[in-house]
Amino acid sequence: MHRYLAAAIALAVAVPGVASAEPSLADLKAQYRRPASVPAPANNPVTAEKVDLGKTLFFDPRHSGAGNMSCATCHNPARGWGDGLATGIGAGEKHLGRRSPTIINAAWGEIFMWDGRKESLEDQALGPIQADVEMNKKIDELVGDIARLPRYQKMFKAAFPGEAIGAPTIAKAIASYERTVVSGEAPFDRWIAGDENAISEDAKRGFKLFNGKANCAACHKSWRFTDDSFHDIGVHSKDRGRAAVVEGAPIELEHAFKTPGLREIALRGPYMHDGSVPTLEAVVYHYASGFAQRESVSGEIKPFKVSKSEVADLVAFMRTLTGKGPAVTVPVLPTSEE
Ligand code: HEC
Ligand code: HEC
Repeated sequence: MHRYLAAAIALAVAVPGVASAEPSLADLKAQYRRPASVPAPANNPVTAEKVDLGKTLFFDPRHSGAGNMSCATCHNPARGWGDGLATGIGAGEKHLGRRSPTIINAAWGEIFMWDGRKESLEDQALGPIQADVEMNKKIDELVGDIARLPRYQKMFKAAFPGEAIGAPTIAKAIASYERTVVSGEAPFDRWIAGDENAISEDAKRGFKLFNGKANCAACHKSWRFTDDSFHDIGVHSKDRGRAAVVEGAPIELEHAFKTPGLREIALRGPYMHDGSVPTLEAVVYHYASGFAQRESVSGEIKPFKVSKSEVADLVAFMRTLTGKGPAVTVPVLPTSEE
């Protein structure tokens, strides 16, 4: 079943006016516990050799036509693996239509891009290299450039014994590296694990609002804070989002975008697919009363009254989701000399 249908059915069975028993705080907290391991597809298990190669490719500007842009230009570890811009800037300084999303926790992602047009990280990886507005390089040229360098030859041999250097192995290596980009343990995780002092009282009130009156958890679910589904939350933009990539899309998919996860969210403003909302405070006001009124807006988006201190509590809660991951080292790139 398509996920948007599932969402519609879930909506239909929630009978308005019939109060369901409120979950206890302990039950709520249990929904946000971190998983113990990182998933990978059976046809591309993560190995140290693939990760090493994928990381080098991720940071290598040979990917771009002009030789000046790598994946990390727009997915920059120093910026929460985004770029801090309202919308990305690609080859020839061309502005892209949408904001560069983070790649943190993409290992758990079920579908990719703001509009869900990519099914897997492997499928996604070669898109930006070939898109003339992004990095603008032909894949054959890239393969040729890489295959000439002795260190890359060795790395490919170690990562993919018996397989050629080509689009499939490049994609598998980059995807494997992306699967290692996982949020570090945050104060919120320590609180969930039982340390009452890990977060402030403001943040605890914010967590209750998030799961209660503010209704944020209707879509920002689980430890990653996403349902991997698509909704119109009334961002004031003309972009049709998911509707432009699904044939015969129902009205709910007009202006619908993938729910972003909220881990490390404080590092990643400005917010939304078009970077139109500058701060986390402004995000809360957007949901309380600032959203566009149109037919496609999700039924879960309803105006609510919010005081200044409640806005501060919600923001304090979202700030507890930033963890300290391991420091990211930048690889030294292969040259023609070695
Ligand atoms: C010029 C900036 C730019 C460059 C360079 C770039 N990206 Fe992106 N990336 C974006 C933008 C913008 C999007 C969202 C586009 C959309 O949804 O329409 C995106 C989306 C993604 C996503 C989907 C994330 C999600 O949660 O759905 C992944 C994964 C990703 N890029 C990986 C890469 C990799 C790997 C490279 C290098 C091969 C790369 N990107 C190069 C800007 C860039
Ligand atoms: C109906 C589902 C839904 C509900 C309810 C919801 N969100 Fe969202 N949220 C989304 C979607 C979808 C986006 C991306 C929308 C876009 O870019 O057009 C988003 C974007 C965001 C962003 C920006 C993320 C980024 O990377 O740009 C933040 C922060 C956020 N929501 C917090 C909240 C808070 C706080 C609440 C409760 C007050 C809430 N959300 C309620 C679905 C929802």
